[in-house]
Amino acid sequence: MKKLELLYEGKGKKLYKCKDEDLLISEFKDDLTAFNAQKTGQEKGKGALNCKISTELFKLLEENGIKTHLVKTLSENEQLVKKVDIIPLEVVVRNVATGSLVKRLGIKDGTVLPFALVEFYYKDDELGDPLLNDEHCLLLDIASENELETLKILGREINTILKSFFLKRGLNLIDFKVEFGKDKEGNILLSDEISPDSCRFWDVKTKEKLDKDRFRQGLGGVKMAYEEVLDRILKDIK
Ligand code: TMP
Repeated sequence: MKKLELLYEGKGKKLYKCKDEDLLISEFKDDLTAFNAQKTGQEKGKGALNCKISTELFKLLEENGIKTHLVKTLSENEQLVKKVDIIPLEVVVRNVATGSLVKRLGIKDGTVLPFALVEFYYKDDELGDPLLNDEHCLLLDIASENELETLKILGREINTILKSFFLKRGLNLIDFKVEFGKDKEGNILLSDEISPDSCRFWDVKTKEKLDKDRFRQGLGGVKMAYEEVLDRILKDIK
């Protein structure tokens, strides 16, 4: 399948049209951004690592009943995906308090939450991706009440599957962000990516951070961390 016109370029990926109107080609970039692109960088090979990691995790989720946009991998940094209308929400699920939750609510960093917390953020760079409650979502006509409920349920199901998968591999899934889209039949599909760009992983034993916080916080060793996450994913644990 050949890439045709560039349809959209985001911070982490480019989306191209292809000859099938219902499909797109998603190309994972080596670029790294943080704090709404106020901090930028590049890590050669990061795109390929995220493509592989995201492909493996989407396959795992499909096997566990979550519908996704993934069709197949085309190259080391390209996926063929179903074309969807992205719902402009970042659905964040948190198991442990850190990052913006700690800043907003003053909870101690590292506190295990009593339940998986689901939050919605408005995908709007100009507004700085603000936190939304359900009524804000309805007011902005982003999704219906039923759809918001579906997104919460899907977020929690994805969390349950990924949390236990990573725990078996010595990684604590602290939190993550997912995005969903609607295909032309109106089905809600998991879209975008799931990678160390969009999740936080802490090593169970050493508590070492193995995700984009290494870039955000200038800790170094970004690529090594992403490689470590991929190695753990590929470990054959039954
Ligand atoms: P936060 O603590 O900064 O709100 O991040 C929560 C989770 O969402 C974390 O796993 C990182 C991820 N995330 C993104 O994927 N994209 C973003 O733009 C932001 C702010 C967070």
